[in-house]
Amino acid sequence: MPDDEKLPAIREALPATAAGIYLNTGSCGPLPRETARAMAELEGIELRTGRADMAYWKDSAERMNEARAAVAAVLGTEPRRMALTHATTDGMNVATWAVDWQAGDRVVTTSLEHSGALGPLWALRDRRGVELAIADIGTGGDPAEVLAALDRAITPKTRLVALSHVTWATGARLPIAEIVELAHSRGALVAVDGAQAVGAIPVSVEELGADFYAVPGQKWLLGPEGTGAVYCAPSVLDRPRLTFAGYAAFESLDLAAEGKLWPDARRFEIAGYHQPSILGFARSTAWLSMYVGLDWIHERTARLAGEAAAMLAEIPGVEVVTPRDRMAGLVTFRIAGWKAGPALGELSKRTLCIARTIPPLDAIRISVGFYNTDHELRRFRDGVALVAAHTPETIPNRPAIQVLRGGLE
Ligand SMILES: Cc1ncc(COP(=O)(O)O)c(C=O)c1O
Repeated sequence: MPDDEKLPAIREALPATAAGIYLNTGSCGPLPRETARAMAELEGIELRTGRADMAYWKDSAERMNEARAAVAAVLGTEPRRMALTHATTDGMNVATWAVDWQAGDRVVTTSLEHSGALGPLWALRDRRGVELAIADIGTGGDPAEVLAALDRAITPKTRLVALSHVTWATGARLPIAEIVELAHSRGALVAVDGAQAVGAIPVSVEELGADFYAVPGQKWLLGPEGTGAVYCAPSVLDRPRLTFAGYAAFESLDLAAEGKLWPDARRFEIAGYHQPSILGFARSTAWLSMYVGLDWIHERTARLAGEAAAMLAEIPGVEVVTPRDRMAGLVTFRIAGWKAGPALGELSKRTLCIARTIPPLDAIRISVGFYNTDHELRRFRDGVALVAAHTPETIPNRPAIQVLRGGLE
């Protein structure tokens, strides 16, 4: 189907794309109409018939299998390597605590991590006396410099390297396969935060070679909040150190607490899941793979994000922070003379864009998705050009129009 027919059908299936220029899938993607419908239907069934009979449990187990299979297909792996979680952050916690830490061990990360990956490392440092080393990888995104910084940081005492595939702040793609090779050669495991990668760029976890790869449902996979998954390589399934475990982790468990863990990644699941969300996660992920098509998504995202970065870079006074040769779907930029917050406020009022700021860089970040149009990006570019042509003092006053939000459907 040609793009001019396919795109309107896709945008019709993603109602939030009509609520403004949707440029913040890096926080939360637009939910497909079909996902919302399936979730509402299951909520209705739960309300009418309850959630406690054996048939419901059997259906729930099948739904969980469907969700693991859907996300495994996107990551190029097998469903048995996937554990369901409630967020990327959950997956990074699973990975961090799966290591048998000893005082004096070292964990390495980078200077561009999100607190979803950093949080568990801070806890590890404070609770277990593990040394937390932060490799300064700058913002330029040069793979050789990133590798050199990690090469200096990964010592023989390093047990884990935890870092992003695509950094939330600059949007740079890190050279994960090479980092994995380096870390493994020094005996360290690698846990990758895939929050800004999966659904935006092609990801083959087995080719990357990472030991853990954590994924959110609610971002580029367009699923509901509170969903996610973590890939667990055979290397970590062979020698698990579970910090959190519960009935979901065990194939069988008797009253004497004699338990048999699942042989697969389910051993990292703990307890119950909100079934409408699991269904929504599976549906959104399968909708992307089977209805929209991953190759089309990846190609279109790369083209549109690249063009958005190029258009912004041409505007006098605009500095694109994202390394243009190492991009995914995020574009981070600054406007001379403006703090990011007020600049984004002006842009939102003038273009109805939905985007966010990156406070540590005092920059604006847009997430460009396959559902965006060239026209939307040009409108956004015009808005940025207008803001960049002014200072906060000279820009013509324009009343806020947020009041329209929520009344558009
Ligand atoms: C790189 C990165 N990691 C982790 C997170 C947190 O994701 P989640 O809410 O799924 O834990 C985000 C965004 O919120 C992110 O951009």
